Amino acid sequence: MSVKAVLDEIRRACPLVSVGVLTADLMNLGDELKLMETAGLRLLHVDVIDGCFCPMMTVGPRFIKAMKTPLYKDVHLMIEEPLSKVESYVAAGADMITVHVESSRHVHRVLQVLGAMTNANDPDRGILRGIALNPGTPLEVIAPLMDEVEMIFLLAVNPGWGGQRFISSTGERIGRARQMIRKAKKDILIGIDGGVTRSNIADVARMGADIIVTGSAVFDGRRPLDNARFMIDAVKDAVGIQRSESE
Ligand code: DX5
Ligand code: ZN
Repeated sequence: MSVKAVLDEIRRACPLVSVGVLTADLMNLGDELKLMETAGLRLLHVDVIDGCFCPMMTVGPRFIKAMKTPLYKDVHLMIEEPLSKVESYVAAGADMITVHVESSRHVHRVLQVLGAMTNANDPDRGILRGIALNPGTPLEVIAPLMDEVEMIFLLAVNPGWGGQRFISSTGERIGRARQMIRKAKKDILIGIDGGVTRSNIADVARMGADIIVTGSAVFDGRRPLDNARFMIDAVKDAVGIQRSESE
């Protein structure tokens, strides 16, 4: 299966929820991931933070390798200078790798290098590449990168901590990013990451996000399976209603 085939598979299923696993009960990670599989999720989001790009430190390649799941591993690298580090995340089994445009002066090169790598889970497919923008980063930075990415992630919070409030200007940024992609005639998915909860996920889906990351609102320490199912249904209902209104 090529990158294009994976992209087509994901696009057909969009909008998709990608659940952030770092707020899961990490001492029972296997059981927690099984719940997400039971919920019918396709993507698991892993926030890798090095304590330099953002103050928090989280996990590394060994954590990703330890995640035994058939779901796609959507790895979000909030790390400084990823060029020499991405290979270890690919080797650990990442299916999708998103780097921050702010994290390297050679971010185009990072994406080129990623584009040449083989997926450790399936040698026939590559790695879906994403570029992430902090809320304060102008969208114009994505223009020279559109030939090197399959996804654009717009952070709806300042990265580093779960459970923050969704920054409302993100909605306008999704619309402008969609226009830029259309104008460039590219096939690029738009992701939203951070601050997505039960109360706003339908709105985020209606804003046009293809991939919606939500972590602490699913792994809330009480009912992760119900939360995951709620998020999946809310996204489908929101878009389903929108599509029927536009027909
Ligand atoms: C930014 C990360 C997000 C975040 C999860 O910090 O990229 O994935 O921690 O956000 P919540 O918990 O708000 O869904
Ligand atoms: Zn993230």
